[in-house]
Amino acid sequence: MSVFWSAVVTLVILLNIIGCYLLIRWVAKPNKGEAKQGEVTGHVWDDNLKELNNPMPRWWLYMFYISIVWGVIYLLMYPGFANYPGLLGWTSDKKYSDEVAVANETYGPLYSKFAKTPLIELSENKEANLVGQRLFVNYCAQCHGSDARGSRGFPNLTDHEWIWGGSPENIKTSIADGRNAAMAAWESVLTPLQIGYLADHLMSLTGRKHKATDAQRGKALFANYCAACHQADATGNPLLGAPNLADKIWLYGASRNKIIESISKGRTGHMPAHKAFLGEDKVHILAAYVYSLSSH
Ligand code: HEC
Ligand code: HEC
Repeated sequence: MSVFWSAVVTLVILLNIIGCYLLIRWVAKPNKGEAKQGEVTGHVWDDNLKELNNPMPRWWLYMFYISIVWGVIYLLMYPGFANYPGLLGWTSDKKYSDEVAVANETYGPLYSKFAKTPLIELSENKEANLVGQRLFVNYCAQCHGSDARGSRGFPNLTDHEWIWGGSPENIKTSIADGRNAAMAAWESVLTPLQIGYLADHLMSLTGRKHKATDAQRGKALFANYCAACHQADATGNPLLGAPNLADKIWLYGASRNKIIESISKGRTGHMPAHKAFLGEDKVHILAAYVYSLSSH
């Protein structure tokens, strides 16, 4: 916030506080109008509820004054006046990092005791898997689902198909460093007709309904344009994150339309990196947990 706007905001806050004080002063005075102090004002509600002209009780009034003073003290101690940092130097960032430090100290050993166990061995450790499951629900479920079965665009982690490789180390790399899949859009290179042929070719690989002559044309196009990443037999390449297109598992949908959409518009799935955020130890436990989901 610029100095100018900071000053404006501070001024508005001060005017508010002064306004509160003046308002209380004003309403605290007995009504000088029609009735004398202690007498009925003439206002009657519900047949017999009469209003007397009396000032507010003292203790009640002082409570208001005390809250105003309290408010001013609070605003001086804590960052309340726009850019002013407050006498105590409190910031939400610092509070957060202090809490994280305390949590790491308390719970750190819980995670670090598994850090040296090799992933395959750890994936059979019940206690570690319970911890892993809890971490998964907290940090991964919003994308992969709490049962890790994924949804459109978010891979199922419980099956045996791995876009980026299914060894424990590959899984750990996926989680630690993240993954960026990059398949460019083909609609500027290929005609809709050609993209249709390619879809027919891919449908033919798993014996689904397709036009044989079109699939044959698609096969030739595939060898030219797609095999570099997906391999000539379309079984994919985990080094590039190019999925197997010759099986029944489809990340973005299995229908002909969805396949055409993938080819025309391209797909750029992004798995965020978690190492800096979660730390090595938690990533290790998560990798073992994810591995356990499909290895049994
Ligand atoms: C913001 C959404 C998001 C979050 C959060 C997320 N992922 Fe992912 N993850 C993805 C996407 C999208 C992919 C697929 C990337 C691609 O298209 O290749 C993926 C891929 C993966 C893969 C590779 C799958 C394969 O078939 O090779 C693993 C393993 C994985 N995630 C595990 C995790 C774990 C464990 C967590 C929690 C720490 C997590 N993910 C959190 C979106 C997410
Ligand atoms: C540069 C490498 C590369 C080339 C070339 C390439 N692809 Fe891909 N393709 C990928 C990657 C990587 C993905 C995964 C995208 C993601 O996970 O977001 C993908 C995904 C797909 C999908 C979606 C798969 C699913 O499970 O939903 C289809 C369909 C597909 N490609 C077809 C093709 C066709 C047809 C061609 C040739 C015209 C082609 N690709 C060329 C890298 C490539």
